[in-house]
Amino acid sequence: MDRWTGARHGLAKTYGQADLIVLGIGVMIGSGIFSLAGRQAATMAGPGVVLSFMIAGITSLLVAFCIAELSSAMPASGSAYTFTYVIFGEVWAWIVGWALVMELLLAAAVVARVWSLYAAQMLADLGVPIPGPLSGVIGQAEGFDLFTLFILVLLTGVVALGARIGLRALWIIVIAKLLAVGAVIVVGAAHFDQRNLAAIPVPSAPVETAADTLHSPLLGMVFGQTTAFGWFGIFAASATITFAYIGFDVVATAAEEAEDAPRSIPRGIIRSLVATTVIYIAVAVVMVGMTSYDRIDPGAPLASAFRRTGNGFMVHVINIGAVLGLTTVVLVLLVGLTRVIFSMARDGLFPRPLAKINRAYHSPTRATLVIGGVAILLAEFVPVLTLEPLVVIGTLCVFVAAAAGVMRMRRTMPDLPRGFRTPLSPYVPVASILASLWLMVNLQVVTWLYFAAWMAFGVLVYLLYGRRNSVLAGGRPPADPAFESRGRHRR
Ligand code: ALA
Repeated sequence: MDRWTGARHGLAKTYGQADLIVLGIGVMIGSGIFSLAGRQAATMAGPGVVLSFMIAGITSLLVAFCIAELSSAMPASGSAYTFTYVIFGEVWAWIVGWALVMELLLAAAVVARVWSLYAAQMLADLGVPIPGPLSGVIGQAEGFDLFTLFILVLLTGVVALGARIGLRALWIIVIAKLLAVGAVIVVGAAHFDQRNLAAIPVPSAPVETAADTLHSPLLGMVFGQTTAFGWFGIFAASATITFAYIGFDVVATAAEEAEDAPRSIPRGIIRSLVATTVIYIAVAVVMVGMTSYDRIDPGAPLASAFRRTGNGFMVHVINIGAVLGLTTVVLVLLVGLTRVIFSMARDGLFPRPLAKINRAYHSPTRATLVIGGVAILLAEFVPVLTLEPLVVIGTLCVFVAAAAGVMRMRRTMPDLPRGFRTPLSPYVPVASILASLWLMVNLQVVTWLYFAAWMAFGVLVYLLYGRRNSVLAGGRPPADPAFESRGRHRR
């Protein structure tokens, strides 16, 4: 029986140390580089987008230390859900798990849509025509889209067949993606002009959204400020750009499948995040150094910057890099999501069949197929591209829970063996909470309203299903008594 999960069955060991770093880079580097950086530079932060990347990166790093400690002490597949279960009990675990499900599910749907847009753009730039009858259902930002369907069906199949098959492909694609990003940095640096960085924009009304109450950042509404650019713009962009760092917490969901998890998972989380942060900042510097921010096309930011500098061939590199890069993002998000759902089902908070492991593939195949199906419905029938900030608020909520978890675990389980300790505790956890909350209040009012509705729905689901069917409600034979004595099974 597993010491941490209390489970009689578990997942096969699949990931070594290097695999975990690849997993982290695979899930993080995606639309953050290929779409968000330029869009935020053009519409919210100007050259200050570099600062926005730093702010979001530092916040993520602070939280990563906390998640690293938690995952080294509790190497189980549910990530923040499992940590919260052990530290705060079932009710809080459900709340964090519900936010985590929203984060990963919606992120997978959003990135699958962006994948479709890039795939269609790649074909267009290569001069490959899309047959007339299909032109309305390929590369669409909203409504039914064939490419979105294709990528989600393909990757759901890969995940369902077992992580090992996906892992080989992951390595190859991540290397190709890094080569493409490297080309962006090197070629872009050759056109760097520091006068572009000096063009500090004056604060003005937001470019993309109406300056109404619903679409102003919560903080801006409180202070009566709804400006783009200036410090308000830089902070608002930091909050949105947190999307680019989403995924380092997903590395923790691989804990049950990692060799020497108490040490390899913390290293995988921190090393992949540091590498990603450096790459993001380099790309952001190069992008706003190559061309003046007000000449960046928010729809195709990097491509437009390279076209302006006469490097049209880079458009193809970016297209291919984006299509490959976004593929691994969706793949790892789906892997992480299946592990969270698997863990929640194992605890009886979701229907127990979702915790069944397929004997042939050593993978939660059933949970994967269900999740893939829900992601497809979401991506096809909901305008998910407008819901990107909802992913961010869910993520930041999970960040707060993780940092609070470290503080409480230090008090209630001081002797628990850990492969990693958060430095300067409690200062780092407190700073993580404050930084995450700060980014949250820089998200739009409408995002807060949607988030509140999702969480209220979650509470309802818990009251109607989870509370009655969970392990604690007697839904399954009791787990390891030694484990229970550490407070694993609490409401
Ligand atoms: N961090 C991932 C991306 O930027 C979700 O696409």
